[in-house]
Amino acid sequence: MQHIRLAIIGFGNVGQGLASILVDHSSRYTQDFDVRFIITAVTDALKGGAMDPNGLDPAALLSSVEKTGTLSEMPNFRPSWDVAEMIHSAPCDAVVELSFTNLQTGEPATGYLTEAIRCGKHVVTSNKGPIALHYDHLTALAAEHGVQIGVEGTVMSGTPAIRLGRKILAAAGIQRIQGIFNGTTNYILTKMEAGAAYLEALREAQALGYAEADPTGDVEGFDAAAKVAILARLLFGTPLPLNQVNRTGITALTPADIQEAASAGQVWKLIGALEMIDGKLSASVRPQRLPLAHPLARVSGATNAVTYTTQLLDEVTLIGPGAGRLATGYAIIEDLLSIYSR
Ligand code: HSE
Repeated sequence: MQHIRLAIIGFGNVGQGLASILVDHSSRYTQDFDVRFIITAVTDALKGGAMDPNGLDPAALLSSVEKTGTLSEMPNFRPSWDVAEMIHSAPCDAVVELSFTNLQTGEPATGYLTEAIRCGKHVVTSNKGPIALHYDHLTALAAEHGVQIGVEGTVMSGTPAIRLGRKILAAAGIQRIQGIFNGTTNYILTKMEAGAAYLEALREAQALGYAEADPTGDVEGFDAAAKVAILARLLFGTPLPLNQVNRTGITALTPADIQEAASAGQVWKLIGALEMIDGKLSASVRPQRLPLAHPLARVSGATNAVTYTTQLLDEVTLIGPGAGRLATGYAIIEDLLSIYSR
């Protein structure tokens, strides 16, 4: 059996989702995949750090956070633990990077990933900043150090949009990608269709944990644009600076626009799209009015979806969660199993 020791950077929603999955499903992973995931170290900017070379109990990590808001009940607790120091000193095989998203610079996450790769660790992240902005740098470094990077959770959380495109559909000739890549805005639009006011719907999306720390990233389309840029690089091989995604958010849509579409049998959706036209990749994020027969029209709430238009299969649509603790925590499991099953 393979023992896979994990050091986790960031113990917010996704880190806790990963811990919950390990509490509930570890024995199945051992039985079905012959692997045992062991969390040896965790560090979080607000909750502090903990380390145990024999493994921190994931249930105890969750209970400590629930009771104290920190990791203070864990072995070798330290109120703060420098990430670089953790990467260098914690006994681990893979680093799971779950710190906050920064779409301007990708930092500090890019620095953490760089450090981990230089230390010869596989890295897995659901953080959009470093992958949208610095993927080529990170993959070149990973190749140099003989390690792998898992990024499934950066687009549509654990719903395997990236893996489906890269591993399964690439040979069918992907010509166009259209998707609902932001759960917050889809939730807001769905609620507004049912008559809710914009701000009320946004507050609900925030309370449910879908929105970014600054929801401007969601409602102005930056988050979806980052996901479009990630897909451009990973599925079309084209690095795409975020400012080259033609981007419009949902803030200019009025209740009247939404009701007018509804009476015409249509819905507004924030659609991220990529299309190769005459060898040039066109990329956009913008609200579109879709007829109800469109495969993305009935995707409601925080659910995400992607439609791949391919030469050999025509359209293939994947629908699933795009955010959330367990859904994103599961993306980390998918990547780790993929790295360790080679
Ligand atoms: N804020 C994002 C969303 C989270 O609403 O989809 C997942 O990337």
